[in-house]
Amino acid sequence: MEISTFVNVMRDSAGIPFYPVVFQGLYVLTWALHAAFVLLALGSMGLSIYGSTQQKSNPYWKILTPHLIMTGKISVSVLIVLGVAPLLFTQVIYDSGWYVANTLSGAWVFIFIYALVIGYMMYYWYQYANKKGSSGNTLIGLISFAILVFCGVLMHNFAVEAISPTKWMEWYAPNGVVDNAGWNMHLDLLRLGFMVSLMIPVTGIFMQNYSRFLSTREDFEPKYLEFVTNLGTKMAVIGLVISAGLFAAWMLRENLLLHPLSLATVISVVMLLVLAAKNTNSYITTGVLVVVALLISGVRELIRYNVMSGIGYDLYGYPMNLEWETIIMFLLTFVVLGFTGIAFILTMAWKVGKTKGIYTAVEGSAVSRLANASLTLFILWILVYFGWGMVALFKNTMGA
Ligand code: HEM
Repeated sequence: MEISTFVNVMRDSAGIPFYPVVFQGLYVLTWALHAAFVLLALGSMGLSIYGSTQQKSNPYWKILTPHLIMTGKISVSVLIVLGVAPLLFTQVIYDSGWYVANTLSGAWVFIFIYALVIGYMMYYWYQYANKKGSSGNTLIGLISFAILVFCGVLMHNFAVEAISPTKWMEWYAPNGVVDNAGWNMHLDLLRLGFMVSLMIPVTGIFMQNYSRFLSTREDFEPKYLEFVTNLGTKMAVIGLVISAGLFAAWMLRENLLLHPLSLATVISVVMLLVLAAKNTNSYITTGVLVVVALLISGVRELIRYNVMSGIGYDLYGYPMNLEWETIIMFLLTFVVLGFTGIAFILTMAWKVGKTKGIYTAVEGSAVSRLANASLTLFILWILVYFGWGMVALFKNTMGA
C-alpha cells in the first residue's frame, strides 16, 4: 500500500468533532506549556544537584538548594498533567504517526511509564535525603535526574518516529523481516540537544523572577537575592547563546532557517537575550519567553506538517463530524472551570509567597471568593458531566 493511502485510511472513520486547524492550534499551545515545565523541572533539579554539593560551605546555596528541589518537584507534576493535552491532540489529528511510533517502540512505551514513576519517587527520596542532610543525597538526586532526562529522550524518540513516515516500513520490517519486539530507538541529537539546552535559560529567567518576587519580603536578605539574580542572569545569557546556536544549526539542516516562523523565533530569542541580560523587569522577560516557547512549538508543528503533507497526508481534509455537545462541554470545562480554578491556585500561591509566616485568606477577599467560585463550578461541572453522560448513554442503549 502506498504510504499516502496508508496515512489517510488510518484516520478515524468517525471523523473528528471540530475543525482540524483548531486542534492543531491547541496542540501548539499545550505542547509549549508542557515544554515550559519540562525545562523548569530539569533545569531547577539539575542546578539543585550542584547546590547540594555547595550548601555545606555556602549559606546562600543552603537556602537556594531546597527551593530549587521544591520547584523541580512541583514542575514534574505539572509537566505530567500538561503532557496529556498535546498527547490527546496529536492522537486526534495525527493518529497514524502516534500509533505507529507506539508500535515501533512498544517496549519503550511501557518502560517510559515505569521510568517516570521510579524517577519521580526517587525525587521525593532526594528531597527527603537533602532535608535530613544525608551524605548520599547528591547521588540519589543524580540518579533521579538521569531517569527523568531519559524519559525526555524516550518522548523524543516517539516524536521522531511519528514524523518519519518514509522510514516506517524499514524500521518495522528491516530487510523484509518483521521485527515487532518494540525496541526501535531513533534519536535526532541536534533536535534533542536544542530542546534540552533550553533548560538553562528557562531556569535562569525563573531565578530572576524568584529574586524579584521575594524582594518585597523582609526575611530574605538583599545580598542573597543579589546572588540568585546574578546566577540567574548568567545562566539565562549563556544558555540562550548555546540554545540559539543549536536552533540555527537545526533550522539550517531542516532547510527552514529563512522561514518567517524561524526568523521570528530568532528575533524573539535576541530580544529575550537583551531583556535577560539587562534584567530591568523579569516579568516582562517572562512574557517574551512565553512567545518564544509558542514559536518553538510552532516550528515543531511546521516540520511535522511539511513532512506529513509532503507524503500526501491531507490534515485539513480530515473527515469532520461536527458535534456541538462535545465542543460546548470542552469549552465550558477548559474556559470556565479551568480558568477559574487556575486563577484561584495562582492568586493563592502569589499571596502565600508574599506573606511572612502563615497566610490566612480573609472572608470576602479575592482568594476566598475565587475558592468558593471554583468549588461551586466544580460541583456543577460534576453534575453536568455525569448527568449529560448518563442521558447520552441511555439514549444510545435504549436505541432512541
Ligand atoms: C520527565 C518526564 C518528561 C520529559 C523530560 C519530557 C520531555 C519531552 C521532550 C524533550 C519532548 C520533545 C521531543 C521532541 O520534539 O523531539 C516532549 C514531547 C512530548 N511530550 Fe513529554 N516529557 C516528559 C513526560 C511526558 C508525559 C508524562 C507526557 C504525557 C502524559 C508527555 C507528553 C508529550 C507529548 C505529547 C509530546 C509531543 C510528542 C509529539 O509531538 O510527537 N511527556 N516531551
